[in-house]
Amino acid sequence: MPTLDNACRVVVLISGSGSNLQALIDGQIAGELPIRIEAVISNQPDVYGIERAQKHNIPTHVLAHKDYPDRASFDDALASAIDSYQPTLVVLAGFMRILTPEFVRHYTGRMLNIHPSLLPKYQGLHTHQRALDNKDEAHGVSVHFVTEELDGGPIIIQAIVPILEGDTVDTLSRRVQAQEHIIYPMAVDWFAKERLTIKEDSVSLDNELLPKTGHQIDSRTT
Ligand code: GAR
Repeated sequence: MPTLDNACRVVVLISGSGSNLQALIDGQIAGELPIRIEAVISNQPDVYGIERAQKHNIPTHVLAHKDYPDRASFDDALASAIDSYQPTLVVLAGFMRILTPEFVRHYTGRMLNIHPSLLPKYQGLHTHQRALDNKDEAHGVSVHFVTEELDGGPIIIQAIVPILEGDTVDTLSRRVQAQEHIIYPMAVDWFAKERLTIKEDSVSLDNELLPKTGHQIDSRTT
């Protein structure tokens, strides 16, 4: 894949289909993202995200958490695999594991996550179902720096989507995912261009403090 010489070295962690990984690969190939994806690591074997990486000759590793006696030993092995690529940035792209505080601290300020809700609403699982059950009018997705609090770190960017009459988890998650593939590359681009800084528990973009929600894109009005 063509990349810039001074591209930001990125390792992507996945557990599934890897559509967010694909958005980053596409951005790299198009020369729109100043990154080089050095490796893709999955904790699940046989997931489509691994195939997506292999198609582009990106090194892949499967580290099955079930092969490790406990969370700490898995996270140790994971950190060794990641660090062998000396990444500047670690991107969690649908990586469905709770990480130990030691692991998270090791990557403070250089690990991003995408979470399918308007954080701080709906941390954890089944976010689309919960938004529908609560009859919310809007839902969305957030990209944030990872801290020890699950789905709780400083938010960089959010996209808001409408919840429409008759929506199901399927229709709503598709609407959210379309936004994921826009905002994750944006956040990675900002990081790679060193435009982001964390100040206490907020994020600045080009030295301008962002609101607690991060930069917001409202797809209801665009
Ligand atoms: C994405 O929808 C992402 O928001 C979600 O997993 C999906 C992965 O899709 N992440 C979480 O729920 C993290 N708590 P993908 O494998 O197609 O990128």
